[in-house]
Amino acid sequence: AATPPMAERVVVWQSRHGRNHLPWQNTRDPYRVWLSEIMLQQTQVQTVLGYYARFLERFPDVASLAAAQEDEVLSLWAGLGYYSRARNLHRCAQMVVVRHAGRFPESVEQLTALPGIGRSTAGAIAAFCFSHRVPILDANVRRVLTRYLAYGEDLAQPRHERHLWAAAEQLLPQVSLETAMPRYTQGLMDLGAQICTPRQPRCDTCPLQSDCRAAGAGDAERYPVRTRA
Ligand code: ADE
Ligand code: SF4
Repeated sequence: AATPPMAERVVVWQSRHGRNHLPWQNTRDPYRVWLSEIMLQQTQVQTVLGYYARFLERFPDVASLAAAQEDEVLSLWAGLGYYSRARNLHRCAQMVVVRHAGRFPESVEQLTALPGIGRSTAGAIAAFCFSHRVPILDANVRRVLTRYLAYGEDLAQPRHERHLWAAAEQLLPQVSLETAMPRYTQGLMDLGAQICTPRQPRCDTCPLQSDCRAAGAGDAERYPVRTRA
């Protein structure tokens, strides 16, 4: 039988081998997904778990966070680092309340207009919560896709970065099942974290191995290419 499309293999692999019990999964509440994505931008899953639980305990919804004093938000963030994230988080909650009547917008365009939400974080929220057919490109996914495509152009150059986004869009699942986009998005994240690791990727257990161009050439660790600006 012919090999299924790449996205379909990622979806099937995710349901069997991916992470499916993280506290920000199995919810479509954009507040919870947004909070997790901001915390996970620069911090490991293991560290985020405790902060995430304490944060939600104190601020269970966007309204409670918006109404808080900044000092209290920063004190719950203490230890996570990158404190501009916490200040943007607070400002974002206030904008959702004031400009969007307390409900997160659904489109990538509206989400990226909010403080602290870049294109990849917006894509993750839109895909996980609203099943929008949009790509993400965080560090893990960038590594998987540049290797799969053997895309060796310098991602420090905006035109090459844009080209990779376009390629990521081309690879999205074709089916319009509600479950496909959340699973595919999580699957790429999980492949990057568990299989397609920076050093010694486990290509022999990867669902992309049969047509992965870097694995075929045996030079996966070459990717991604990014010079210092
Ligand atoms: N890093 C960013 N988003 C994540 C997610 N949903 N699960 C695990 N790690 C992540
Ligand atoms: Fe990464 Fe190897 Fe999978 Fe290619 S086959 S995506 S290099 S783990």
